[in-house]
Amino acid sequence: MTIRVKRLGYALGAEITGVDLAKPISDATIAEIRAAWLEHQVLVFPNADITAEQHIAFSCRFSELEVGLTKHYRESANPGIVRVTNRVVDGKPSISRNVGRTWHSDSAFALVPPMGSLLHCKELPEVGGDTLFANMYMAYERLSPGLRKLIAPLEVVNDRLAAPELHWIPPEQAARERIEWPPTVQPVVRVHPETGRKAIYCNETVTVKIHGMTPEESEGVLKYLYSHCVRPEFVYRHRWQLHDLVMWDNRCTMHLAPVDYDMSHVRDMSRTTLRGTPTGRVYDSSKEYLE
Ligand code: OGA
Ligand code: MN
Repeated sequence: MTIRVKRLGYALGAEITGVDLAKPISDATIAEIRAAWLEHQVLVFPNADITAEQHIAFSCRFSELEVGLTKHYRESANPGIVRVTNRVVDGKPSISRNVGRTWHSDSAFALVPPMGSLLHCKELPEVGGDTLFANMYMAYERLSPGLRKLIAPLEVVNDRLAAPELHWIPPEQAARERIEWPPTVQPVVRVHPETGRKAIYCNETVTVKIHGMTPEESEGVLKYLYSHCVRPEFVYRHRWQLHDLVMWDNRCTMHLAPVDYDMSHVRDMSRTTLRGTPTGRVYDSSKEYLE
């Protein structure tokens, strides 16, 4: 064992030290990091003073980079990097300034949602700017057997355009996005492709309703799941330090970036996104109630 792993929260999260992300890393060390990631779901690498190229090189050891899903937020010439910032870019407020204001798993509307993301802290407000993470295995396991049985066969309809941060977009853009990102049907309980464990996978950001039910019928169960999933005992709240690199597993966690800071202060983060594996299918409303 070359890396050191220190748990950060009861539910999830661990700090990794003993590895320099700016230097070449052996396959054995990457295997240790991956095992720690699967166990703790969110890894924090403190003092990662890395360039964009090193951020990308490290990310590529875990999966291919996902560039298609993140192109909307790209603000650098580098397709592998997304900037999540409230900084003014080209005289305009950044479109990414309100990313993650409601609980979500990244791109849960996609047929190939990302495996995970690696977010690097470049600049921080004086106080706040935290990110919260919730453990969706634990949320699933803490449901009563009765509710676990009830939700086992359920699927949800997820729609990118339902995300609050997209409510402002002009109708022509919405029409284009609708074609590019049709709503999909996803399992309420997703089996993690690497660990085989079950995790709750619906979220308040893009989930519209339970498939085969009306929105009104769905509402009670979904509202209960959303509040249950983010109970404080399932959550780790990360207080960023400059140059932290935080790597989360999108398949078994949700996260949230609250406005817990003065938005006139700069918060500037860079993100790489790891390609995941397929899940779900395209939603066909004409067949919904016939299945
Ligand atoms: C994201 C995201 C949270 C944050 O990059 O996907 O939700 O704290 N960011 O910036
Ligand atoms: Mn996110």
